[in-house]
Amino acid sequence: MLILKTIKDINNQVVELKEMGKKVGFVPTMGALHEGHISLIRLSNRENDLTVCSIFVNPTQFNDPKDFEKYPITLESDMQKLIAAKCDILFLPTVAEMYPKGLKNSEPIDFGYIAGTLEGEFRPGHFDGMAQIVEKLLRAVAPHRLYMGQKDYQQAMICTRLIKKRNLKIKIVVCPIKREKDGLAMSSRNVRLDARSRKVAVEISKVLKSMKGRAARGEGQLIADLEQAAFEKLSSFSEFKVEYVAIRDAKTLKPIKKISATTHAVALIAARIGGVRLIDNMLL
Ligand code: PAF
Repeated sequence: MLILKTIKDINNQVVELKEMGKKVGFVPTMGALHEGHISLIRLSNRENDLTVCSIFVNPTQFNDPKDFEKYPITLESDMQKLIAAKCDILFLPTVAEMYPKGLKNSEPIDFGYIAGTLEGEFRPGHFDGMAQIVEKLLRAVAPHRLYMGQKDYQQAMICTRLIKKRNLKIKIVVCPIKREKDGLAMSSRNVRLDARSRKVAVEISKVLKSMKGRAARGEGQLIADLEQAAFEKLSSFSEFKVEYVAIRDAKTLKPIKKISATTHAVALIAARIGGVRLIDNMLL
């Protein structure tokens, strides 16, 4: 696996590959890689001639400085996993390389409603920082395809709009959530869960499954009832501090009132447990 650390080097390399007619897939990450990331690498390998992965813990998307400080860094094992998954190029820039003029975002994009609700409400500034780095990475790597996980549902929606707004010639591929055997959505933050929190954390995916089941059984069911029941179930575990349980239109993220045959809805949850913030979602 080739490791490149500067924008110039990765850009030159990809330009050269494209001139040779190669298709390039890109998986941006913040490291602490798990099977969810690796599934993106594998899909990219299948759909492209080469796969680039980036590892960069982006300081501008952490609204909580403690979360940034505690973000797991496991570079050695990440590299081993990437080599085993046959990733071709690792882009490993420094903060100075990605932010030569400082961390301030001089041209934040207005993504409107989808960036202000749910995660946008609970993590102010997060999407500005995320979109800022994703644009820099996309311009540096200039891939044909970008691979992202559905677990960060709003992030994937925002990146789709970013590509459109900036007129980038990149196809985004959003991949299904990878789950542990018991259903917990894979996340880099899971390694920070202690034994008790890990045991209880699975309730998030259980509640999502139960909402999906109830939504499938009954047209006309009031969303507010489903949300309320799920919120109460999670809150019955003293370990959880639930931030939101929401069922929204899957394409606009706007609230909807009832489940109907034509509704495309997504249920989204964010909750804190044992000092770790977890998110998960499920299409209904
Ligand atoms: O999902 C992530 O790991 C990050 O938000 C991303 C897309 C790599 C941007 O820093």
